[in-house]
Amino acid sequence: MNNKTVLVTGGAGYIGSHACIELLQAGFKVVVVDNLSNSKPESLTRVQQITGKSLSFYQADIRDKQALTEIFAKESPDTVIHFAGLKAVGESCEQPQLYYHNNVYGTLVLTEVMSQANVKQLVFSSSATVYGESSCPQYTEDFALGAINPYGRSKAMIEDILRDLSAADKISPTESPWKIALLRYFNPIGAHESGLIGEDPNGIPNNLMPYVAQVAIGKLTQLSVFGDDYPTRDGTGIRDYIHVVDLVKGHINAIAALNSEKFAAGACKAYNLGAGRGYSVLEIINAFEKVTGKTINYKISPRRAGDLAECFANPDLALKELDWKVEKTLDDMVTDTWNWQTKNPQGYI
Ligand code: NAD
Ligand code: WQD
Repeated sequence: MNNKTVLVTGGAGYIGSHACIELLQAGFKVVVVDNLSNSKPESLTRVQQITGKSLSFYQADIRDKQALTEIFAKESPDTVIHFAGLKAVGESCEQPQLYYHNNVYGTLVLTEVMSQANVKQLVFSSSATVYGESSCPQYTEDFALGAINPYGRSKAMIEDILRDLSAADKISPTESPWKIALLRYFNPIGAHESGLIGEDPNGIPNNLMPYVAQVAIGKLTQLSVFGDDYPTRDGTGIRDYIHVVDLVKGHINAIAALNSEKFAAGACKAYNLGAGRGYSVLEIINAFEKVTGKTINYKISPRRAGDLAECFANPDLALKELDWKVEKTLDDMVTDTWNWQTKNPQGYI
């Protein structure tokens, strides 16, 4: 036990549940707040099974200020990792109010409760989606922001709010200023190596990797490859896929950074969490076929609206300031996805 308590919003979800494992294994006391709108409590049962350690779970909505205030009073967290949010791009275009209410208003309530409880260390799940289109496919943190859908804009708005909060500390100095890490994830895939926890999308997946996995296991019949006429090495879209376990380790390093003298009091800094190299859709299919021995049935379809040809991280700042870089390979990502999928063909039931 390192005597520090981390409150994890959205901790029952895909990335949050993997983060809980790393936090428990690093000796943190873990408090999860999740409304289970996109997850099941079974994920947390399995986190405790994997680690042999227990955590506290509150089924609550981050927009419920009274509930959150009571949880903060009872648990006295030192740091918050804020994963809770809705994340489907298409749904955000259909229901923008839902996304702004849940993601932006939810974060406002969370930060108000944090201010009142004097808990001022925050690690936030941002996204590469906040970046605008760029002529250079390798994104550094200083690239212009310009999200193109309500989901991405909700993340960009939250980043603005968090930057404003830390700037306000400079105008009226306080004894405990904010320290905030904005972690901009690229494309998280994979699962814990135990195969006990993983990504459990509702309905038909929107994202490539869970879709491929469900074709491989026979739940879906055919993958549509969205475009083969992009200016990339094989014509299909290139993304920076990152193993979810590598990703959550970045959060542990971010907490260490926030606790160090090197991270200035009152700072709010963005970090790309990606591998720094991309794979095409066809390369992902090939890797999946190699690892599983299955043939992935696919057809070439028209481009999907809003997709970039190529997008990958420059993760140098995370290496320099968080001492973090990816360790896992594409084979690891595919092997662990397949292990989870075959052990849990219906997800958490
Ligand atoms: P997820 O849906 O699996 O997990 C999010 C969790 O938050 C769920 O358990 C859900 O029930 C909970 N939640 C949502 N709204 C809530 C609310 N108002 N109050 C309490 N709990 C609430 O998603 P994930 O893939 O684990 O993503 C975690 C975070 O990372 C999200 O903020 C997402 O936007 C961000 N992110 C994800 C990706 C990705 O590709 N998975 C990429 C970049 C950023
Ligand atoms: C990857 C590649 C598709 C599905 C999304 C969100 C982003 C972030 C991560 C949260 C692209 C192609 C996909 C399919 C395909 N989430 N593809 N057939 O679009 O890079 O990012 O998830 O922050 O906000 O937009 O990921 O997995 O959907 O697509 O050909 O059925 O696979 O065109 O080239 P994306 P993805």
